[in-house]
Amino acid sequence: MYLQFDRPLSGSERSSMRDLLRRRAAGEPLQYLLGETEFMSLTFRVNPSVLIPRPETEILVEDAVETLKAAGPVRILDIGTGSGCIAASLARNLPEASVDAVDSEPDAIRTAADNAARLGVGDRVRFLRADAMDAGFHAAAAPPYHALVSNPPYVSMDEWERLPVEIRKHEPRRALCDGGDGFAFYPVLAGLAAAMLVPGGLVWAEVGAGQSGAVLEMFGRTGLRDATALPDLNGIPRVVRAKK
Ligand SMILES: C[S@@+](CC[C@H](N)C(=O)[O-])C[C@H]1O[C@@H](n2cnc3c(N)ncnc32)[C@H](O)[C@@H]1O
Repeated sequence: MYLQFDRPLSGSERSSMRDLLRRRAAGEPLQYLLGETEFMSLTFRVNPSVLIPRPETEILVEDAVETLKAAGPVRILDIGTGSGCIAASLARNLPEASVDAVDSEPDAIRTAADNAARLGVGDRVRFLRADAMDAGFHAAAAPPYHALVSNPPYVSMDEWERLPVEIRKHEPRRALCDGGDGFAFYPVLAGLAAAMLVPGGLVWAEVGAGQSGAVLEMFGRTGLRDATALPDLNGIPRVVRAKK
């Protein structure tokens, strides 16, 4: 509309623009209206079955790429892949790596597989529908891995009620909220890292603001070494990294 400011809209253009404006005014995120968003300078298709990739998560991917870039044909496990943004951008930036990407939601798996194929890494990212909290998860995955990455649901039930309408009414609750105190996934991720990584293998987990201290402690208690928190651009510890 701005590029052709003097051109009157046709009836159908006007009605589709009105429809989009109405949906946006009701709080539907712009990324769902457009059907895509950018992450790590790549375009990912998004829909209400997947979390909209957040810029904070790029910190996890950037650190993993920097750490693993000279490591050769590494095998990576991504837990809670959603749109596939972490899995596909790692595969794009680590040309010898292969990634197993897990999600419990079939619609997320479909979206992530579509994104990996569009980005030309479909042959190096394998998608698994599985519940990572399930005791039988070990059998669904194919350890050992050199790295485990995850941006798990870490919003507590209390926080969920206070989130803006854009998120609470439109993004998938299961992607954001763990149904409890926000810490449900971290002991499980630490246990999976201890069990599924090669010795010296690395785990990266995104954490919510204020969660890093407790997560560092949990990871240390599980026998993981050199646990450290990486800050986001606002100086908030955002990603916990540790070594088996
Ligand atoms: C915070 S989102 C992260 C999505 C994507 N990796 C990203 O960074 O944008 C968490 C994802 O975990 C998935 N998830 C939730 N519970 C799960 C479980 N028990 N097992 C596997 N995946 C789960 C959700 O469906 C969601 O896609």
